[in-house]
Amino acid sequence: MNILLTGGAGFIGSHTCVELCEAGHHPIIVDNYVNSCEESILRVEKITGRKIPHYQADVSDAQAMDRIFFENEIDCVVHFAGLKAVGESVEQPLRYYRNNLDTTLTLCEVMKKHGVRKIVFSSSATVYGNQPVVPYREDMPSVGCTNPYGWTKFMIEKILEGVQHANPEWSVVLLRYFNPIGAHESGLIGEDPAGIPNNLMPFIAKVAVGELKKLSVFGNDYPTPDGTGVRDYIHVVDLAKGHVKACDYAMEHPGCEIINLGTGHGYSVLDIVNTFQRVNHVEIPYEIAPRRPGDIAENYADPTKALKLLGWQAEKNLEDMCRDTYRFQTRNPKGYRG
Ligand code: UFG
Repeated sequence: MNILLTGGAGFIGSHTCVELCEAGHHPIIVDNYVNSCEESILRVEKITGRKIPHYQADVSDAQAMDRIFFENEIDCVVHFAGLKAVGESVEQPLRYYRNNLDTTLTLCEVMKKHGVRKIVFSSSATVYGNQPVVPYREDMPSVGCTNPYGWTKFMIEKILEGVQHANPEWSVVLLRYFNPIGAHESGLIGEDPAGIPNNLMPFIAKVAVGELKKLSVFGNDYPTPDGTGVRDYIHVVDLAKGHVKACDYAMEHPGCEIINLGTGHGYSVLDIVNTFQRVNHVEIPYEIAPRRPGDIAENYADPTKALKLLGWQAEKNLEDMCRDTYRFQTRNPKGYRG
């Protein structure tokens, strides 16, 4: 299959590109490199030994997208493109709504024009909101998002549901990711956030190599086993394989499905710190800091629907995630720009 990856140069997009190649598909990338760079695609080419057609364009640029669809016989789209920093979305809501919604609307219009009706969307567990019970199941009604980034994911799910409802021959798969971390085991591709990372694992990785002094653990008074926040961390390669399965599913099944991609296991912040130190033989200095506004105590996925519908489940463990993250960080101390 020819599969267009919007935002395919990013962290999850680049790993998905590798797995699609391994499965015999032909990925094509469109990316504006606002939060990524072409180097990640060159690294994917190195890993796979394949040339990956790629275009520098904004997904909200209808003309550019039209040309891409005209030049390639696209069977399915995986839509990763979007702004994704929670804190930034609170400060710049209009930019987030404009960018994330515009890109999706343009993409759907161009798909419609070219008769492409299969789409897999990069959604997030954030759309569940702060649920009173765990694990999170796809049929739980959302209790509302806590920031504009989350609302864009929520709204895009609704847009795609609406498009599928109006055009029943469409296949829409909404993948709700939990917390993707780790890196490809080659050490060639991984997460390369600009500036000081907001998320736990990239922050730990930079502390590990001495680029940042110490980790602040945001709260140790949550109602969790050790008091620190619990999340469902998933290896990005497992996540990428979930996308391959989702594309296969979309080709065969018209309809709209929401599917969690998580492991079903929750780990605390201190579990991550301790495992990282142990497997990598490196010290992570940390201090307990106040809770971060908007954080919840605990979430993890019920991953049974992914197994049932896609035949997919996560295979890598927390040790793999910590080891692979550290390998990418030490081999690329300045990320892709080094
Ligand atoms: N944490 C720290 N110190 C840090 C960073 C994070 O203690 O420097 C803690 C947080 O308080 C939380 C855990 O580590 O308990 C995980 O935090 P992340 O920022 O890595 O991830 P979140 O669970 O807050 O958010 C992630 C994604 C979002 C997505 C959300 C979905 O980053 O994009 O999961 O649930 F919306």
